[in-house]
Amino acid sequence: MDTKNTPLARVMELFMTLLGERQSQEQLEPIVPAVPPEELLDKLPLGLPEQGLSFDEVAARLRSVIEATPSTAPGRFYNQLFGGREPYALLGDVLATAMNNSMYTFKVAGPQVLLENELIERMGKLMGYRRHEGTFTPGGSLSNLCAMLLARDSVCPDFREQGMDGRKLRVYTSADSHYSVPKAAAMLGVGRSNVVRIPVDGRGRMLVSALASAIDKDVAAGHVPLMVNATAGTTVLGAFDPITGLADVCERRKVWLHLDGAFGGTMIFDERFAEHFEGSERVDSITWDAHKLMGVPLSCSVLLVRERGLLKASLDEAAGYLFQSDDDQWNPGTRSIQCGRRNDALKLWTNWLHHGTVGYRARTERLRDLALLAAECVRESPGMTLVKEPESLTVCFTVDGVSAESLCDALQDAGLAMVGHAKVEGSSVVRLALVDPGTQKEQVRCFFEDVRYVMRRRAIA
Ligand SMILES: Cc1ncc(COP(=O)(O)O)c(C=O)c1O
Repeated sequence: MDTKNTPLARVMELFMTLLGERQSQEQLEPIVPAVPPEELLDKLPLGLPEQGLSFDEVAARLRSVIEATPSTAPGRFYNQLFGGREPYALLGDVLATAMNNSMYTFKVAGPQVLLENELIERMGKLMGYRRHEGTFTPGGSLSNLCAMLLARDSVCPDFREQGMDGRKLRVYTSADSHYSVPKAAAMLGVGRSNVVRIPVDGRGRMLVSALASAIDKDVAAGHVPLMVNATAGTTVLGAFDPITGLADVCERRKVWLHLDGAFGGTMIFDERFAEHFEGSERVDSITWDAHKLMGVPLSCSVLLVRERGLLKASLDEAAGYLFQSDDDQWNPGTRSIQCGRRNDALKLWTNWLHHGTVGYRARTERLRDLALLAAECVRESPGMTLVKEPESLTVCFTVDGVSAESLCDALQDAGLAMVGHAKVEGSSVVRLALVDPGTQKEQVRCFFEDVRYVMRRRAIA
């Protein structure tokens, strides 16, 4: 077959051209200027046509939209907990999209199901699990939702059939945990007001004694404790809740313990973090986002469950038109919150083949070293204050005389960096997230020079 002159070949050539242009733009202008949405609506040709457009017209429209899209790849993006562009991960993602297998049955996904299982098996083993199961979800928020669903059904086995039935359920999570926890509680009928926020220590880690007292007080008042959500890598400080202490509390009281490792799960590769994962084999479920630190494009999240059979017990539905093999072991759809499901496994598998476990270990060590370097840069810079020693890969700091918000805006307006701000103990801080595997030491030093440059410019203005 002549594959060179097909419409697909032409489009793939356009793909490479547009990606090449994007990379050139990233070199020249790593931070795409922020343009308000109203202006973009006026400027960009976003309208949908009645008649289909020609190849060149489609290309022109795509080009104008891509040029205006914020860049998350070129090493100056420190704004969120994902970033970078890795060739093998992209290859796996594009192939998965091109093959378009839905991951609900072996019948339509074949070996893709098997390699997904291999990832679940390996990731669970890294966490210390032995006879576990898992499912890929479209992100950490949904992995957390799914974990809370399993917790709900394990504590209240009739909930799935009977619904709420007047129970006073409670979920416990640290004051610093992710917003997906109350969101899930709202969606699952637990209610946001039944999410108890447990205070943290000076390093942002959940206080075990406060958790134990909160649960005991609630039980005495007739509440049913459903789940404790521990975090491995909190969103702002990157802190790790003490798993062993929390597991002691939960096992004694028969409460489901979930570990939200959406951000920090990947740090399992770095032996310096081994103590933070001590006891991970005791938690009931674990969220682990590969799209955050494992260099694969959004989205790619895994929920690992310590005991086999629970996903099916909570998520299986009869669907004779779909699940037609007797052996549901090979039909992941019986264990998923979705029906049709994108293949998020191939990109992670491909990238893992390329880097190997050794490569991932080196990456986490390097990223941690970059965070330590950034902390050092803050300490050495007059007028900058390190808010806390970095717990993992985020570095929070303030700058004298400039609010975190205006500093972040100034860096972006000057085309120097995209970085975000957050609240720590009620005060606004700059949160520098060192998660892009392509980031070099020199770029971290350069970031702080840019901060100093922006401060000087403000002082003169
Ligand atoms: C600790 C934590 N949990 C969950 C999430 C949600 O992950 P996702 O964006 O994949 O839904 C995040 C996102 O940053 C996070 O930091």
